Amino acid sequence: MEIAIIGTGYVGLVTGACLASFGHNVVCVDNDPDKVRQLQAGKMPFYEPGLAELVSDGVQARKLHFKDSIKDGVANASFIFICVGTPPKVDGRVDLSFVEQVAYEVGQHVAHNAYVITKSTVPVGTSRQVKKLVDQGVVDSGRDTMLVNVVVASNPEFLREGSAINDFLHPDRIVVGVDQLWAGDLIMELYKPIECPKLVMNPESSELTKYAANAFLATKISFINEIANMAEASGADVRQVAQAIGLDRRIGSSFLKAGIGYGGSCFPKDVTALHQLAGENGHDFRLLSSVIEVNNVQRERFVNKVRSVIGELGGKRIAVWGLAFKAGTDDVRESAAIDIISKCFAEGADVVAYDPQAAENAKQIFSDRIELAGSALDAVQGADALLVLTEWPEFRAAQFNSVREGMHRAVIFDGRNLLADMDLFEKGFAYYGVGINR
Ligand code: UGA
Repeated sequence: MEIAIIGTGYVGLVTGACLASFGHNVVCVDNDPDKVRQLQAGKMPFYEPGLAELVSDGVQARKLHFKDSIKDGVANASFIFICVGTPPKVDGRVDLSFVEQVAYEVGQHVAHNAYVITKSTVPVGTSRQVKKLVDQGVVDSGRDTMLVNVVVASNPEFLREGSAINDFLHPDRIVVGVDQLWAGDLIMELYKPIECPKLVMNPESSELTKYAANAFLATKISFINEIANMAEASGADVRQVAQAIGLDRRIGSSFLKAGIGYGGSCFPKDVTALHQLAGENGHDFRLLSSVIEVNNVQRERFVNKVRSVIGELGGKRIAVWGLAFKAGTDDVRESAAIDIISKCFAEGADVVAYDPQAAENAKQIFSDRIELAGSALDAVQGADALLVLTEWPEFRAAQFNSVREGMHRAVIFDGRNLLADMDLFEKGFAYYGVGINR
């Protein structure tokens, strides 16, 4: 089938490359000609495991193409995916200007009857607004919406950074929100090779599903972080509690890792947006206020713990392992690590950090204020404390004898409980996890 993907960010590019791998003809559109040139040359704009190979396969098979204008991109397309950003505004509401602009432009240039499918995470009710804008574009280009008929649908993504391709090819479910059942079935044909529950519902339900999924997962994380805080106060071990409750199939074991809280470009933004959206609909979603508050306080608690052990942070040398908001990505947006480092700076500490992927992105935030080390071992030299803030597996392979010898004080604060089972006491460290008593 002929598909256009508008926006080559992380969602658009993964979607385009995966749909091309099913044999569809896919044109990915981005309005940044430099980015398009780089993609054509096989250079990825961000780090995502397996993506460069999948894009290169698609290009070689002539199934995946890149264009820098919507006009060229949608010329043959029957299925047009909107995958542009929906950043938060300062008040926490969603900025829909990119989605709206794209919807109108698609209407101006769509060549024949088509499906316009929103993958961007958008507030409930946006599909109807997209439909109006697409139709307006059709009319403004001198055509009749009876002759160029566009069906608008919602098709939220559930892709995690770092495992996006696997999540796309092996999803737990696919959701399409559209008013006409037959249109939903037709859109599902795009995903024919994928075996999973495929749910067709109205656009509002589909749009709300996306927010509900992210908010629920964030709630699980804040919940287990509160249990971790209780565990610290009471002599329990949160890892054992999480394992025990996770074995209850009604609860499930995933997203019960305690630590310094959730970050990234999705959870913080989407939880806040859903909270805001509820308020606009006259509903005070109190549970979400707590989820957000617990997440913010979790980072403060971590810094408080560091201070309570090593004393005032001013003038101390703090080593940090991990800058990305989670392992497997170079993304530092809303990263708990960035927040914690900012708090250390605010108290006058010096920070030297190592991250296998995210150093450059962190440099853009802190510029010369932060010292970036070339290795985990380099980062700890002379440090008064080591903070583990991202769960990169390679940190577990460190030579801990050398780490201890290099540090000024052998104290580790592990915000991810990554090293909790590595007998660091026996290796001569003072070790503090989250929700762990030793
Ligand atoms: C999340 C969702 O998991 C995806 O399903 C969704 O499609 C995506 O947002 C999106 O809306 O686009 P992602 O932001 O890539 O994906 O990251 P997650 O793996 O969900 O992790 C989010 C944050 O929660 C990270 O900071 C992670 O460290 C933290 N986390 C996760 C925990 O603190 N504990 C856990 O048990 C799990």
